[in-house]
Amino acid sequence: QQLPALLRTMPKAELHLHIEGSLEPELIFRLAARNGVALPYASVEALRAAYAFTDLQSFLDIYYAGASVLIEETDFFEMTWAYFQRAAADNVVHAEIFFDPQTHTARGVPMEKVILGLHHAAERAHQELRISSRLILCFLRHLSEDEAFATLEGALPYRRHFIGVGLDSSERGHPPEKFSRVFARCRELGLEVVAHAGEEGPPAYIRTALDDLQVRRIDHGVRCTEDPTLVERLARERVPLTVCPLSNVKLCVFPNLAHHNLPALLDAGLCVTVNSDDPAYFGGYVNQNYLELFAAQPGLGAREAWQLAANSFEASFVADATKAAWR
Ligand code: ADE
Ligand code: ZN
Repeated sequence: QQLPALLRTMPKAELHLHIEGSLEPELIFRLAARNGVALPYASVEALRAAYAFTDLQSFLDIYYAGASVLIEETDFFEMTWAYFQRAAADNVVHAEIFFDPQTHTARGVPMEKVILGLHHAAERAHQELRISSRLILCFLRHLSEDEAFATLEGALPYRRHFIGVGLDSSERGHPPEKFSRVFARCRELGLEVVAHAGEEGPPAYIRTALDDLQVRRIDHGVRCTEDPTLVERLARERVPLTVCPLSNVKLCVFPNLAHHNLPALLDAGLCVTVNSDDPAYFGGYVNQNYLELFAAQPGLGAREAWQLAANSFEASFVADATKAAWR
C-alpha cells in the first residue's frame, strides 16, 4: 500500500476550503449550547442524518443553519484551530481559506470578531503547526452586488488580514458578471480574485469569471469539459482549477468518484488541484479526497499524486520567492 502512504504523507497546499464547512456537528452542538442558539435538530446524529444532499442548494440551506451558532470571536477561533489540526494531520503545509462574512454580519456579528477569530487561529497554526495560511473573503452570489460592496467596505479596516476575494453560494442564476464592478474595485485594491464557476453552472460562467472578473483561479470548474475550446484556453493560460472530488459526488455533480473527470482534466494539461471544500459535510478532509479518488480511478498513480501536489503549490498565492524555497 505505497500509494495511500504517499498520498497521506506528501506535503500539499489546500486552496479550496470554506472554514464554515469545517464546522463538525459536535462543535455545532457545543457552540449552540454555549451561545443559547436553538437548532432544528435534536442531536448530533439527527444533524448528520440530514447530510443527504441532492444539489448545491440543499447543502447550502444546512450549511448556513450550521453557521448560525458562531457568535463570539472565540467561536471563530475554535472552528479555525480545529481545521488547522486536521490539516496538520493531512500534511497540509499551506492553506488558503475562504470565509463568508455575510453569513455572520447579517445576524449582527461584527466583522471584527469573524476576521480576528480566524486570524488568531492562523497565527497559532503558523507558530505551533508550521502551517502557513491566507484568508480569502467570499461574497455570497445570491445577494446583490451592492451588498458585496458594503461587505468589502466593512472588511477594509482588516485589509491586512486577507489576501483576496472569492464568489460562492448558489451558482445557477447568479453569473459572475453580476459582480463585475465590485471585483474591479477589489483588483484596484490589490486583492487576488477567484470565483466558484462551473460547479453546477454552465461553462459560460467559467468564461465570464475569466473575462469579466479576471480571476486568477477557478474554484471547481469541472463543467469546463463540456466546452473543448474553453479547456484549451484553461490549459494554455494555465488557470488553476481547485477541484473538490468528494463535494462533487455529495452534491450530485458526478454520480461517483469513478466517473469524476479529474483524470481527464489532468490529461488535458490543466493545473488541477485536489481540495476538500466543506469537509465536515462531505465525508472527509483533503487526504480523504485524495485517497478515495485514487482508489476509484485505476489510472491515477504516484506520478499523478506528485503532479497534483506540485500543482497545489504552483496555484497558491504565496510569492514566487517562497515557492522557490519550497522546492
Ligand atoms: N459555499 C460553501 N461551499 C460551497 C460550494 N461548494 N459551492 C458554492 N458555495 C459554497
Ligand atoms: Zn466551495
